[in-house]
Amino acid sequence: MAKTILCLPGDGIGPEVTAEAIKLLECLGDDFGLSLRIESGSIGGSAYDQHGVPLPDGTLDAAHAADAVLLGAVGGPKWEALPYEVRPERGLLALRSELKLFANLRPAVTYPQLADASSLKTELVSGLDIMIVRELTGGIYFGQPRGVRTVDTGEREGFNTLVYRESEIERIVRVAFDVARKRDRRLCSVDKANVLEATELWREVATSIGNEYSDVALSHLYVDNAAMQLVRRPKQFDVIVTTNMFGDIISDVAAMLTGSIGMLPSASLAADGKGMYEPIHGSAPDIAGKGVANPVATLLSVAMMLRYSLNEARLATLVETAVERVLNDGLRTADLVPEGGHPVGTSQMGDAVVAALRDLSGDIS
Ligand code: IPM
Ligand code: MG
Repeated sequence: MAKTILCLPGDGIGPEVTAEAIKLLECLGDDFGLSLRIESGSIGGSAYDQHGVPLPDGTLDAAHAADAVLLGAVGGPKWEALPYEVRPERGLLALRSELKLFANLRPAVTYPQLADASSLKTELVSGLDIMIVRELTGGIYFGQPRGVRTVDTGEREGFNTLVYRESEIERIVRVAFDVARKRDRRLCSVDKANVLEATELWREVATSIGNEYSDVALSHLYVDNAAMQLVRRPKQFDVIVTTNMFGDIISDVAAMLTGSIGMLPSASLAADGKGMYEPIHGSAPDIAGKGVANPVATLLSVAMMLRYSLNEARLATLVETAVERVLNDGLRTADLVPEGGHPVGTSQMGDAVVAALRDLSGDIS
């Protein structure tokens, strides 16, 4: 039976990068016999413009019904003055929450071809392969109460709540241990247990779950130290597990180690196997509509979709191989090219990956 993929291009460069992913999915259908039905829907600022809300009911229903969701990006200056409840980002957060996508996997891998594009010295990042496991439906992003209120002095006060239940910590930590078991069996849990009670509990729960995974070496770091270690000696890490907000921040740090945030895919998974796949970069309004964005993070997100939602690990590897071949051929989008270089555009990059994938179909038939 055909699998249904819901594509949500969103805002900024979202439509440009997801267009390349659609080409890739079509190639997987035409040349590799993958039976897919691709639907599309609106989310974020563009959904607000059309429907007055950042997550229309139709989009949510279609996401529930789909086998997997592919998302571009949300947000942009056009919508920054809107009330919080209808901001583009709220649409994405609501979708993550409604689909119960609590486990966000963000691999940061430095391709050898790009080691010199990193802002760190090549020897520090070459061979880097980290998996960040970010909790995605709890913590300060969702905690109540939240808001801005006026206090007795007449001054306004903004407040948010960092809250984690043991069960929420336990399930994400288990995902991270399971991921670590398939890798180098090293897990670093990142918290701020010296200051925040909620993450003191996090450390306690992680340690106790760790007793069940004696084959995985568990360590703990405070988030400030973890941020420093990531730029000091990043290869010390294998798998990192952390809260929603810390994961948001350190995954951007890890992204720069790989040369460009334009290279990093992600998978957001629910316990029932539902998955949403998105590049970790945002909507990049400064370059939107120019055809220069790097589509690779989105193409690699399709690879993650093949692996985690469509049970097509072999095709996932082929997509990753196709990306590597294109990098070997020297193709680079603007984010990876020093000033004065000769970058290719979004669709050239996408076409090259699709062509490389099509070439690979000959190898396996
Ligand atoms: C991310 C993004 C989102 C987040 C925004 C767009 C809501 O930064 O996926 O990393 O903070 O989770
Ligand atoms: Mg982020």
